[in-house]
Amino acid sequence: MNEPYILNLLTSGFKDAVVVVIGGKGGIGSQVVKQAKELGATVIVGSRTATKPDTSDAVIADAYIPIDICDTASIQKFAATLQEKYGRIDILVNTAGLSYQIPPNNLELLTDEMLTEVLDTNAKAPLVIMRELAGLLQAGQDPVIVNLSSIAAHTGGGSNLAYAASKAALDTASKAIARALAPKVRVVNISPSALDTDFVRNRNSGFIDATIKASALKRLASTTEVATAVLCAARLLTATTGTNIFVDAGRHL
Ligand SMILES: NC(=O)c1ccc[n+]([C@@H]2O[C@H](COP(=O)([O-])OP(=O)(O)OC[C@H]3O[C@@H](n4cnc5c(N)ncnc54)[C@H](OP(=O)(O)O)[C@@H]3O)[C@@H](O)[C@H]2O)c1
Repeated sequence: MNEPYILNLLTSGFKDAVVVVIGGKGGIGSQVVKQAKELGATVIVGSRTATKPDTSDAVIADAYIPIDICDTASIQKFAATLQEKYGRIDILVNTAGLSYQIPPNNLELLTDEMLTEVLDTNAKAPLVIMRELAGLLQAGQDPVIVNLSSIAAHTGGGSNLAYAASKAALDTASKAIARALAPKVRVVNISPSALDTDFVRNRNSGFIDATIKASALKRLASTTEVATAVLCAARLLTATTGTNIFVDAGRHL
């Protein structure tokens, strides 16, 4: 019997695919690496510390290439290394980012330095990455960009207002980039709610408890579920581009 259609999309879509995960050592990124490797992809991780993870249970990608997403020269060097070694990108996952937990009413805690760091890392950097890697994606097989956004862009909540604004900027720009790179390259943004990772500096358990309480499904989404959504957007949702998919246990409702 032939393999079912959906399984075939996954197996043929990931086998020998060149998957680049920027932020691939993080909570979500490492799950994307794991699931893409399980499906037979060649997975390249971009990270400021481009060494293999040292824990024995970590999933090892095929290559680790240094990148600081806040430095255009570093992004260009990363692109040149990919060009030389692989010549194309089939799936680009932009998952690197950062935030700080700041009480929503304490506007004075939003220093200029913090605003610049959060907006540069979460909004400007992915746009520079998409610009600099567009050529490699145009050379790819069924190429797609999957950006990690956040439901904070939709709710205006989340860890702080600069973070919500940065993800809203990414979402809007991604629609424009989806138009610019069509019909060859698709662009899909995945929007999780708060997850149990080390992502937000100084986030306390109270925030996580409040997220669970406010979510329709009364639980958090997991990093595994978010990574699965990334892979589905890349290879199953073949008519989807220029939009967001919420993976938030109903937190936005
Ligand atoms: N966790 C959540 O609650 C949550 C909720 C909604 C959306 N998201 C989004 O999901 C994405 C990933 O979150 P996560 O939970 O996996 O976070 P994480 O575990 O903190 O991983 C993020 C990764 O970003 C990388 N990074 C940060 N600044 C960088 C820079 N300047 N250059 C290169 N890499 C940089 C870090 O990698 P290196 O240190 O190796 O460079 C880090 O491993 C983020 O975009 C975030 O906005 C997260």
